[in-house]
Amino acid sequence: MQFSMHHFDEIDSTMNAVRDYIINNPLKSHGYLVQADLQTGGRGRYGRQWISPKGNLYFSLCLTPGVNLTKASELSFVVCLAIGEALQEILPKKTKMLYKWPNDILIDDLKICGILLEANTNLKNELQGIIIGIGLNCLHFPKSETLVPATSLVDRGVSAHETDPKKMLDRILHKISFFYDYWQKNGFQHIRELWLERAKGLNEPIKIRLDQKELTGIFRDLDAQGALIVETEKETIKVTAGDVYFKSA
Ligand code: BTN
Repeated sequence: MQFSMHHFDEIDSTMNAVRDYIINNPLKSHGYLVQADLQTGGRGRYGRQWISPKGNLYFSLCLTPGVNLTKASELSFVVCLAIGEALQEILPKKTKMLYKWPNDILIDDLKICGILLEANTNLKNELQGIIIGIGLNCLHFPKSETLVPATSLVDRGVSAHETDPKKMLDRILHKISFFYDYWQKNGFQHIRELWLERAKGLNEPIKIRLDQKELTGIFRDLDAQGALIVETEKETIKVTAGDVYFKSA
């Protein structure tokens, strides 16, 4: 896969830069990538702020897989596995790395990476491209109140030389290329299994905060499209959006 890479010293959000590009160049946006050293308006899921000082990796990538939105949401798992593999190569061997549904990476139960998916549609509501935003804590991590306590690569004992954001970007893109091709050729099934091998809280109690209500149950599985299967006291349900909390977290 070819990436068309664009670097900024400073930007509001790499998500906005990629979105603007797709709007103006809908037919050549596959692989378009924007990386910035720092973001002044970085955002996370549900419009939360993503504090983005210099020293970490911030980038957004456009993919146009030619599938519908439900299928395209599998890409967050594809990218999660890619980053997970890149991290494993540099983290100390015994480090505990887990994936938290739908798209966080935890090291020793602390969040090190967040992945944000935004769909871009045209006026006819057709999917033009998926923008995947990745924030990886190389050097810094937020120490104040965050939903999930955080960490960084340096904090986990990786040498500053290995955690250079540009170097991490190269490692990650190499893996994204591999897993994206794999997904295109073979579908989601094996990606789902690999993700589940490192799923945080599988078969354990979880709480999910949906728009208006909070739901408690046991996290049993991922369905064929990556939705969370939760067994509550009354029934087994499928969750496609929401924040997930684990008893131990
Ligand atoms: C989350 O865990 O809530 C997702 C965080 C995603 C942050 C990245 S940093 C690069 C890209 N630009 C943004 O404004 N957000 C994403």
